[in-house]
Amino acid sequence: MNRDPEQAPIVALAPMQDVTDLAFMRTLTRIRCLPDFWMTPYFRSTRTTCVMPDDLLLCIRENPSGLPIWAQLAGSSASSLLRDAESLMQLPIVGINLNVGCPSPLVNRHGAGAALLKNLPLLREITQVLRAQLPRGAWSVKCRLGWENPEEFSKVLDVLCASRPDLLIVHARTRKQLYAGKPNRAAVQLAVQRANCPVLANGDVQSEDDARDWLHEAHPAGLMIGRGLVRNPYLLRRLRGGSAPSPQEMQEYYAILLEETGLLLKRYTPAGHCNRMKKFLAFCYADFSAEAEYALRRCTDPMEMSRLLESGRQFPSAS
Ligand SMILES: Cc1cc2nc3c(=O)[nH]c(=O)nc-3n(C[C@H](O)[C@H](O)[C@H](O)COP(=O)(O)O)c2cc1C
Repeated sequence: MNRDPEQAPIVALAPMQDVTDLAFMRTLTRIRCLPDFWMTPYFRSTRTTCVMPDDLLLCIRENPSGLPIWAQLAGSSASSLLRDAESLMQLPIVGINLNVGCPSPLVNRHGAGAALLKNLPLLREITQVLRAQLPRGAWSVKCRLGWENPEEFSKVLDVLCASRPDLLIVHARTRKQLYAGKPNRAAVQLAVQRANCPVLANGDVQSEDDARDWLHEAHPAGLMIGRGLVRNPYLLRRLRGGSAPSPQEMQEYYAILLEETGLLLKRYTPAGHCNRMKKFLAFCYADFSAEAEYALRRCTDPMEMSRLLESGRQFPSAS
């Protein structure tokens, strides 16, 4: 489905296990950089049970901004996924997103995530069952292009489109590529042409220029952005015509994230607080001097971390 060029592109926050948690959602809310919707990292659905971690449930229950939130499921059994989709639908979510992209060996060994890309009959069964049970507007998929080769995508797309998703998000890489290599814009364009629903492009949006290239070359309804928003959440404001962040705003972002991260720890220790914060910083180090990065990676004292975050940033963000 082609985007109406008059309409602003949708911009969503990509789900990232252990990163896009309630602390991050609260931080974006406090600095007033909000996406159009949230999506939880995946709940793992197995034959016996669905793992319902407290931190994911908190994102849904406390959803600080009240924006629409999708719950993502990863699994490989149609009946178990259906059971878990029905139970998640009791919560205040807009719908269910099926994870067809996770490259984790543990998840793939059980046939889930990206492994579904090499088992199209199973992918068909799961997507048909979920579509049949989920209300209109409540069924979406986030996929990669294939297991090994982007040429697999055409058949994957056939299967996904047959389930009439309400939203399709394409991380434009194969499982083999993991998180590196240039995202394949032509594949997203193919999805835009074939799918009868909004398609969001995902992969490597770090700047306004990256976003413009995606929109120009593949014409998706919008973008889903992960690592780029952790590094610079003000990119959301920039993509809506606002200004790039000042150094003070970036400092405020780090300070609020550090504070919110500490508040969510179940058993507080200073070293645990710093370690949790490093999950975010992994995507921010490029903006710090080599000395500051070295010190941040070793830091176990939140006061010291706060000082390093204030003084160690050396480059203005890309946009
Ligand atoms: C640490 C980490 C955790 C992730 N967890 C999930 C997840 O739970 N579900 C999912 O669909 N994708 C997950 N992803 C993939 C991202 O949603 C996204 O597709 C990928 O990072 C590419 O987008 P980006 O370049 O904007 O980050 C994860 C990625 C990272 C780096």
